[in-house]
Amino acid sequence: MRVEVVENYDVLSLRAAEHVAGLIKSKPKAVIGFATGSTPLGLYRQLIRMHRDEGLDFSGLTTFNLDEYIGLAPEHEQSYNYFMWDELFGSINVNPELVNIPLGTVDDIEQYCQEYEEKIAAVGGLDLQILGIGTNGHLAFNEPGSSLRSRTRRTILTADTVASNARFFESADEVPRHAITMGIGSILDARQLLMLAGGAGKATAVKASLEGPLTAMMPGSAMQLHPDVHVYLDFAAASGLEYHHHDGIAEPKG
Ligand code: GLP
Repeated sequence: MRVEVVENYDVLSLRAAEHVAGLIKSKPKAVIGFATGSTPLGLYRQLIRMHRDEGLDFSGLTTFNLDEYIGLAPEHEQSYNYFMWDELFGSINVNPELVNIPLGTVDDIEQYCQEYEEKIAAVGGLDLQILGIGTNGHLAFNEPGSSLRSRTRRTILTADTVASNARFFESADEVPRHAITMGIGSILDARQLLMLAGGAGKATAVKASLEGPLTAMMPGSAMQLHPDVHVYLDFAAASGLEYHHHDGIAEPKG
């Protein structure tokens, strides 16, 4: 695991954007997994700037998003589909035909999830998966207890996730209770993971994920199984770590 700790969210966002841009420049037809949540917003703003000012070209990219609320149509303002077009895709030159975001209104969810997996496999798998982390350690909507080998499927949101995401809705009652999410196993299949976390609220989940035991009860800990993980943290999110992690080596602090 390569962990880079930087002074604040702006630097974290810029470093992450340089990482993503580096991949796109070296592989214009890359397959990239995108994430929602507040954390990647700074990264997305940087990618939009790079497109506008530096001509970063997204036209060859194939994208897959991690998750979507069940019951929200793509045009619903709190859907992750809407979020992605509003915060990133609408401001860069992605080819809409190569954008894949789970659809929360399908009838046969099981079959849809299997097809989503098949679509990822058909393009050769993900080169990079961008990840945030929940305060409870969830990756995408893989809540604690999710199998470490889980695949894309329907999940039930925990009460703390519903409470934490209620800030985007009129009330907690409006937060969907179910989601379609790529599984932990699906995420681990990506050739590289790029995990971002900022703020003291993430410090416990970050420490448990990077230094704690590997357990389904802390989905972020599954990243320990992956051979190529890049983590960008600000000081606050890194504050619980007992080790410096660099180039796959963990060295006690102090
Ligand atoms: C959401 C998403 C996750 C995201 C996490 C953290 O519920 N499903 O993909 O990483 O919660 O969100 P934030 O970045 O807003 O803290």
